Amino acid sequence: MHKPVAIHEQLYWVGVNDWETDIFEALWPLPQGVSYNAYLLTDTHTALVDTVKSSFLDSFLERLYQLLPAGKGLDYLIINHMEPDHSGAIRTLLHLFPHMQIVGNAKTAGMLEAYYGIRENVKVVADGDTLSLGQQELTFYLTPMVHWPETMMTYESRQQVLFSGDAFGGFGALEGDIFGDNLDLERYEPEALRYYANIVGKYSNMVQKALARLQNLPISTVAATHGPVFRNNAQWIVSRYDAWSRYEAEPGLVIAYASMYGHTEAMAEAVAVGSRQAGLAPVMLKHVSRTSLSELIALAWRYQGLVLGSCAYNGKAFPYMDLLARQLDNKLLQNRQVGLFGSYSWGGGGLRELQKFADEGKWNLCGEAVAAQGAASDSDLTACENLGAAVAQQTLKASPKA
Ligand code: FEO
Repeated sequence: MHKPVAIHEQLYWVGVNDWETDIFEALWPLPQGVSYNAYLLTDTHTALVDTVKSSFLDSFLERLYQLLPAGKGLDYLIINHMEPDHSGAIRTLLHLFPHMQIVGNAKTAGMLEAYYGIRENVKVVADGDTLSLGQQELTFYLTPMVHWPETMMTYESRQQVLFSGDAFGGFGALEGDIFGDNLDLERYEPEALRYYANIVGKYSNMVQKALARLQNLPISTVAATHGPVFRNNAQWIVSRYDAWSRYEAEPGLVIAYASMYGHTEAMAEAVAVGSRQAGLAPVMLKHVSRTSLSELIALAWRYQGLVLGSCAYNGKAFPYMDLLARQLDNKLLQNRQVGLFGSYSWGGGGLRELQKFADEGKWNLCGEAVAAQGAASDSDLTACENLGAAVAQQTLKASPKA
């Protein structure tokens, strides 16, 4: 990926692959890397759409200079999103091309000053404004909170290209081909969903608003800031984002549990037995100490059923379970069929905290929550099987694909 890649006439990908960052936003693992996509429109006036993380400046500039006509710099830099994984090259570009106009909305302007001390060379646009580059015309659509307040999308009408910012993006570096045309979608979808659930999902209502705003726009190509460029199958990624932001889910159950000495794990296994016997598949057992928070959130987003179980720890839920519950709450995930269980030694803790979480969210609580003291008795385990069966029945009822 050392050269620019032509997408259409007068449009090129000039982004970079990042195989070095282990944890995105210092939180979310990147086992398959990530790409920072930037796009160059070559026309009477040249325009760059977004930039890359500052640590990849060298390879980004090398790619850019391969396309800029000798002696001619950049006329416009369109900033769809100010998060530093996309704005990291702005100051350098301004040094290199001092006449360049930075195009963003009023909120972008405030962030340009706050992050980079930039007050000059800023062209502020409003929703629906246009900018002609010569043969190509750009229209700007403000899509706040997808993923920051200043986020906007840029549409090029001649080739019907939507530069969508973080929306329609995914984790995973580009593997030898920037296009989603021949992508193994079954392999890619979990990484796209993990990105959605971890990064964008909290703002699902704003994703829905953005989709409504764009619904009459003919879109042939989706060019996001992360992941593949969708040229012939743009509708696939748009429909995935639509479903995820409406909290649609597949039939299936994730049992996330915390257990130190195996007693709570035995309860989790009994829940799994009950749900399988009720006819639900797949059923997944995930120990919260051995599964990343990122993966757990993505699985909760993917599947209709969710059971949380925790041992007590210092009178509270186990720390990683506490973190998971808080993050599910923070991400505003909703409309799941939820079951709860816990164990304790003397004063309780695990289940009590989970019940607080469940009471505050928009969940469909299923069956009877189970609390066991010490090692679960036979009747406790039977109650766990019943809980699994109750969640499974509700999950099957709530899943259109089942
Ligand atoms: Fe990829 Fe919200 O930045």
